[in-house]
Amino acid sequence: MLSEKVKKEIEGSLKKYPTPRSAVMDALRVAQEERGHLTGEEMREIAGILGMEPVRVQAMGGFYSMYNVEKPVGRNHVQICRNISCSLLGAEHLISHMEKLLDIKTGETTGDKKFTLSTVECLGSCGTAPMMQVNDDYHENLTEEKIEKILKGCK
Ligand code: FES
Repeated sequence: MLSEKVKKEIEGSLKKYPTPRSAVMDALRVAQEERGHLTGEEMREIAGILGMEPVRVQAMGGFYSMYNVEKPVGRNHVQICRNISCSLLGAEHLISHMEKLLDIKTGETTGDKKFTLSTVECLGSCGTAPMMQVNDDYHENLTEEKIEKILKGCK
């Protein structure tokens, strides 16, 4: 269920966009920020505020990898790209390395809820592959050493 604070923020953001449809991504972001993921109920509430059909909001939430729909994630959501450029430059090896470091498999969350490890299909940073996203930050030209440093620096 959306908090009053989130509802107000979404209502306010309606004024920033020419149509309610343009406000969907921002509304999903605002709602996700509160607890790290989105539920079907929350997306239906967002649709109600925006005056849209719920299925349209749910389609947006399900399409983009930055939204965690019905999937609670750890404090640090590590999303590593395994598409062509990243794969050619060693993504599979780096994924295995991270699974060992975190002692989890892809798709899992560590016992202390500090990390969730996911794979994604191209985050649009192919020129600096291999790359990954941790929460809102991009990390590029990854190596084993870089990954170890990034994970150590996470709260
Ligand atoms: S292939 Fe990895 S960012 Fe595009």
